[in-house]
Amino acid sequence: MEIIITKTYEDMSRVSAEIIAREIKRKHNLVLGLATGDTPIGTYKELVKIHRNEGLDFSKVTSFNLDEYVGLAPLHPNSYNFFMRENLFRHININPENVYVPQGNTDDPEEYCLWYEEQIRKSGGIDLQVLGIGGDGHIAFNEPGSSFASRTRVKALYRQTIEDNARFFAKIEDVPRFAITMGVGTILEARKIILIANGRKKADVCAEFIEGPVTSQITATALQLHTEATVVLDEEAASKLSRTEYYNWVRDHKHSVQKMIGR
Ligand code: F6R
Repeated sequence: MEIIITKTYEDMSRVSAEIIAREIKRKHNLVLGLATGDTPIGTYKELVKIHRNEGLDFSKVTSFNLDEYVGLAPLHPNSYNFFMRENLFRHININPENVYVPQGNTDDPEEYCLWYEEQIRKSGGIDLQVLGIGGDGHIAFNEPGSSFASRTRVKALYRQTIEDNARFFAKIEDVPRFAITMGVGTILEARKIILIANGRKKADVCAEFIEGPVTSQITATALQLHTEATVVLDEEAASKLSRTEYYNWVRDHKHSVQKMIGR
């Protein structure tokens, strides 16, 4: 894993948006996996800025979101469908036909999950997957104990996730207990992965998933098994890492190392 420590949330957002923009410029029909939550809001703002100021073109991009609450219709203000429209899609020139966010109010979630996986396959697979990390170490809604081979499915949310996400709802009882989520196996098939994290409240879990042992109890540790995973985090989220000096040296010397090995 490549670890990029930035000073502030704004820097984390800018650096991660630049990485995403670079991939879109490299491949106009990029298949982009997207996350919701507080963390990527700044990244999406930066992407909108790059679209407006530099004409970053999303017209051929296909996107797949990681997850959605079971029971919420796409227009529900707490749905991830709604979040994506408000924070990204309505500000860029992505073709709505190329946008996939799991549908929370589907009649047959099991059948729907198979269909979702099939759409990812048909699109050629995810080129770059954006992830956040939950307080319990989840990626998407792959809660503790999720198999690293898991695919898109319905998952019961862990208590900590329900508590963490209660801030978006009027009361904790309103937080859905289930979500449709890509599996760890689905995520690991992405060609590249970028995980972003910020704030002191993510410091312990970031140290655990970056420097701790691989375990399905912290599903973000699965990224240690991926050859093209980058983590961009701010100083607060990185504050419990023990090898910061090494990560910073590698970050600062990346270009000379690449030159030396002829990449
Ligand atoms: C959301 C998702 C979740 C979040 C995680 C962090 O689509 O997949 O795994 O990335 O819960 O959420 P925030 O960013 O709100 O701390």
